[in-house]
Amino acid sequence: MKKLSARRRHPLAAVVVLLLALAATGGLYAAFAPADKAQADVTAQSLAIKEGQKLYTVGCASCHGTGGQGTSDGPSLVGVGSAAVDFQVGTGRMPAQQPGAQVPEKPVVYSQAEIDQLAAYVASLGAGPITPTEKQYSPEGADIAKGGELFRNNCAQCHNFTGEGGALTEGKYAPSLEGVSPKHLYEAMQTGPQNMPSFPDTTMPEQEKRDIIAYVKTVNSEETPTPGGFALGGLGPVSEGLFGWIFGLGSLIAVAVWVAAHTAKAKKS
Ligand code: HEC
Ligand code: HEC
Repeated sequence: MKKLSARRRHPLAAVVVLLLALAATGGLYAAFAPADKAQADVTAQSLAIKEGQKLYTVGCASCHGTGGQGTSDGPSLVGVGSAAVDFQVGTGRMPAQQPGAQVPEKPVVYSQAEIDQLAAYVASLGAGPITPTEKQYSPEGADIAKGGELFRNNCAQCHNFTGEGGALTEGKYAPSLEGVSPKHLYEAMQTGPQNMPSFPDTTMPEQEKRDIIAYVKTVNSEETPTPGGFALGGLGPVSEGLFGWIFGLGSLIAVAVWVAAHTAKAKKS
């Protein structure tokens, strides 16, 4: 007994107890923290769906139906996926305004946070293409030459060889791809908006989409060399015409003056 109580009061006992307590707290934290985080993710997700439903009821239900089942004014959104919403609302096509051959791009009405909530709600109605992550659509390190070949085979018949777009039948058109973000390029291929066919990952893998994005971004880039020499600000025929007018005509006048002066001199002598 005497020995035991002596050990109990050993000066290191307090330190040992403290270390054990710390280890226990750490262990408990490790055991419970991931569960807490998963729980938090689920809560955030259902909150986004709830907020999205509110936005949907106000802005979209009149055409797409209260549960997204569709009406005579808009198609069903069950199974179109978050990618379709991110594309349609993110490019300002939705909410649609007046009926026409094709719903055009407009200034975007919702913030990206609201678009994410709308997308979460529509995705909850039925599984569909999921909004891509930056890793999926980033053109960084993709094969531009391969992308050009894929573009000529799959997209050029409607969008033209460098993506400047073109007219289709019945007042429809394939828009110019200049200035379209890599994310929206990816989503357009995933979901095939309106008269565009879709290119799902099963027929056109992620890597091929990234190659195409890299090609489109390169041919539309300001750093792309222009065959004529100077890009002249990339402003097109007007600036080029002006350049020709001022410098071309200016040098012609200079030559004419020089010739006239020399003929005058020749006559005098
Ligand atoms: C004035 C009616 C109208 C309103 C309001 C409207 N839409 Fe649409 N929406 C349409 C029509 C019509 C189409 C089909 C366009 C087409 O394919 O020609 C469409 C298509 C879509 C598509 C593409 C579906 C697919 O099959 O890929 C999505 C996604 C979509 N709408 C989401 C929304 C969301 C989200 C809102 C609210 C922010 C909204 N729409 C508001 C009429 C409307
Ligand atoms: C059959 C013709 C056709 C083909 C083939 C086609 N597209 Fe399209 N594309 C369209 C039409 C039509 C639209 C306009 C749809 C809309 O406004 O909702 C469009 C829209 C787009 C948009 C949206 C542009 C914007 O301004 O927001 C992108 C991006 C796009 N296409 C990329 C591609 C790529 C990349 C390919 C090849 C993998 C391709 N398309 C193949 C007809 C086509």
